[in-house]
Amino acid sequence: MGICLSARIKAESPCHTGGSSKPVSTDGNDLSRSSSKASSVSVPPRSEGEILQSSNLKSFSFSDLKMSTRNFRPDSVLGEGGFGSVFKGWIDENSLTASKPGSGTVIAVKRLNQEGFQGHKEWLAEVNYLGQFYHPHLVKLIGYCLEDEHRLLVYEFMPRGSLENHLFRRGSYFQPLSWNLRLKVALGAARGLAFLHGAETKVIYRDFKTSNILLDSNYNAKLSDFGLAKDGPTGDKSHVSTRVMGTHGYAAPEYLATGHLTARSDVYSFGVVLLEMLSGRRAVDKNRPSGEHNLVEWAKPYLANKRKIYRVLDNRLEGQYTLDVAYKAANLALRCLSTEPKFRPNMDEVVKELEELHDLKETGNTRCDQSSGPRPRRRSADDVGKGNTAAAYPRPSTSPLYTK
Ligand SMILES: Nc1ncnc2c1ncn2[C@@H]1O[C@H](COP(=O)(O)OP(=O)(O)OP(=O)(O)O)[C@@H](O)[C@H]1O
Ligand SMILES: [Mg+2]
Repeated sequence: MGICLSARIKAESPCHTGGSSKPVSTDGNDLSRSSSKASSVSVPPRSEGEILQSSNLKSFSFSDLKMSTRNFRPDSVLGEGGFGSVFKGWIDENSLTASKPGSGTVIAVKRLNQEGFQGHKEWLAEVNYLGQFYHPHLVKLIGYCLEDEHRLLVYEFMPRGSLENHLFRRGSYFQPLSWNLRLKVALGAARGLAFLHGAETKVIYRDFKTSNILLDSNYNAKLSDFGLAKDGPTGDKSHVSTRVMGTHGYAAPEYLATGHLTARSDVYSFGVVLLEMLSGRRAVDKNRPSGEHNLVEWAKPYLANKRKIYRVLDNRLEGQYTLDVAYKAANLALRCLSTEPKFRPNMDEVVKELEELHDLKETGNTRCDQSSGPRPRRRSADDVGKGNTAAAYPRPSTSPLYTK
């Protein structure tokens, strides 16, 4: 089965041509959640006005955000995605108005590309979900700006940037993450997903990948980017039907084949990310020898064999783990990657197993060395996302995924 990745766009509805600024929910992506305590009872989709009014978010003016990012200066760019660029800015912590660079609270401002409102739906989904949830493993959305053609989102600033940068960028700032830190990040991200899948929330995240896992100064992982998130199935429904969206290499095979989305699709994506963390390899890497382009296909046969998992494990981790712990982690990844969704663990089980691996580390049963974490040199966080890239690699991006 081949998958071709279209242009870097994040629109979901095929009929969303970019001419309308109205939120659409033609594909069943109902924006119906009213609180993080919502039960699984279906409520009518909320309008844009309701979503914006009911959130506890600050509505910023465009000029405020322009000022706080120093007019979106290129040297304030923290990173770029398919949605637009993310800038570093400063606001006063009490009034939440723009403050002088270097004073007040640091924020990350995501500015939607102004190509005919394409992405408005994702922008609204982000406001809808992150406007209601508060969880230590979800990035905090502080506010938004909706003014004329401008669509922006204002987040807490995550000083260590994305997991993607730490795993795959080379350069003095991005030292390889230690085994312990990889476990910590995996556990944090798993807790975020488990919260979303929990009985009271039932949200399918749909875009789980290393660039959407952001790290605070202590390497606590937080999920960002809820543009593709969807309410999970309600009542006796087993799945929600959607147009297939996501990022090449991360989407579950049954979702690619049918468009049927379940929480187990997120578990598969979690397995891909866990495998990327264990191996230090990208989910899809055309620069590798043929037969190794697709990480999951290449690694699966080795993961099941205790004597062969060394072939998969990142050699930058040598000496930091015991075979036993590495095998357990590899086995967890393998189960998450089961082709048959019912053989995948749920996220609560994943969290439990990762906690056990983390405890093993804490009781000193492994050769892991807590002090072996990266020691980045001191520099401006502006540099995050702009580290020296050894290989020019086309970054995976969220887009419609087509199967042939
Ligand atoms: N709150 C934040 N704090 C610090 N850096 C951030 C923050 N949000 C995003 N970034 C940086 O900006 C980059 C771009 O983020 P964005 O979510 O727009 O795109 P992406 O996730 O990389 O790709 P895609 O558009 O395919 O999802 C991230 O990879 C990260 O490095
Ligand atoms: Mg992102």
